[in-house]
Amino acid sequence: MQSTNDLTLATIPAIHGGRPLFAERFRFCRPLLPSIGNALKYYQAAYVNGTITNASLVKHLEAAVAERLQVKHCVAVSSCTSGLMMVLRALGLSGEVIVPSFTFFATGHAALWNGLRPVFADCDEETWNVDPIDVERKITKRTSGILVVHLYGNPCEVETLEQLASRHHLKLIFDAAHGFGSRHRDRPLGGFGDAEVFSLSPTKLLVAGEGGLVTTNDATLARAIQGMRNYGDLGAYDPEWLGMSARMSEFNAALALAGMPLVEAKVARRNRVAKIYTNLLAPLPGLRFQKVLPGDLSTYKDYSIHVSSDAFGMTRDALAEALLAENVETKKYFFPPLHKQRLYSSFHSVDLARTNHITNGIVSLPIYESLPDATVEQVTYAIVRLARFKASEKQAIANKRFQHVAAGS
Ligand SMILES: Cc1ncc(COP(=O)(O)O)c(C=O)c1O
Repeated sequence: MQSTNDLTLATIPAIHGGRPLFAERFRFCRPLLPSIGNALKYYQAAYVNGTITNASLVKHLEAAVAERLQVKHCVAVSSCTSGLMMVLRALGLSGEVIVPSFTFFATGHAALWNGLRPVFADCDEETWNVDPIDVERKITKRTSGILVVHLYGNPCEVETLEQLASRHHLKLIFDAAHGFGSRHRDRPLGGFGDAEVFSLSPTKLLVAGEGGLVTTNDATLARAIQGMRNYGDLGAYDPEWLGMSARMSEFNAALALAGMPLVEAKVARRNRVAKIYTNLLAPLPGLRFQKVLPGDLSTYKDYSIHVSSDAFGMTRDALAEALLAENVETKKYFFPPLHKQRLYSSFHSVDLARTNHITNGIVSLPIYESLPDATVEQVTYAIVRLARFKASEKQAIANKRFQHVAAGS
């Protein structure tokens, strides 16, 4: 039987002297990899042949991805960052490119590496993706392209952005780093805009170790990326483009090929984890959640909540610290936003009120396939317990004030 003392300890958050809900810290992120046997099944022949780069596994992966994503061309590259850098260059962008500020810095870096001036557009209050209305507002005669992000795998307002880009004769590129496995209106991401670029690093649902995929319906662009990833040379020993060394190796392709059949179940599991979090946290005051538009499917590469400190009773940072005391690690994806980072401080950064507000309150909770429901529920309980404790503290202060006033009257 629990003693009164035990019960009291169970309701007190660890940061206030209670017992941590988790005895040990568990991982924030854990990639679910294919079995080593499956990966080696693909890789073994390449290894034995000595054809460990520029060979058939990369081609096999490209064909499998193009078929799965219903897009004409897929070009495998060394990373999403190198893919974005090459796509912006191959599309001939110059001057300004409109980008969200609420993203990982690799999005902006791709623009800076090309000597482009990033112009930041604000995000939508509910989806946290770029707001197409603000994108249009930021277009000037120097704008040559729009580079937007499917944040955490949540598809952007694709058609609105495509119409906008076409109306203003701008190139449209999607940073789909988080989006392998997402669907927009029942179509997989991959075939929208001029190009989409995926990341295959270990925090993503399709993992190659390191790697990226450029997908496009534009044959000229696909050919340029095939050349550019190989120093700009397609075999003539006389480069057509100023390229770089950004090929994907056969080992990375083998890992990705073995991991492809796992993606659908990963998306389903992450959606289930997200649903548990949202259902259990929604009754708390001061928390908001990312909206996925009807008909869309997110990968939930990350799951973040937004904390309004006044209503919740704690700041985002205080919540993160209190969760760490419970042995729950969190992240702030993506804070600070790009326009608050030193590399980007001199670029256009006005009218970003929603980006500022949302990123100031963002906290990302652990999400991965092997996280049991019970752990997810305990994490939400840690947050509920903190909120209750804060509310009772507030009530006690109000009571004391009332008694004081009553005694004085
Ligand atoms: C939005 C976004 N874009 C680009 C990247 C870069 O991906 P990579 O590490 O494959 O270059 C990341 C990495 O997580 C990202 O989150």
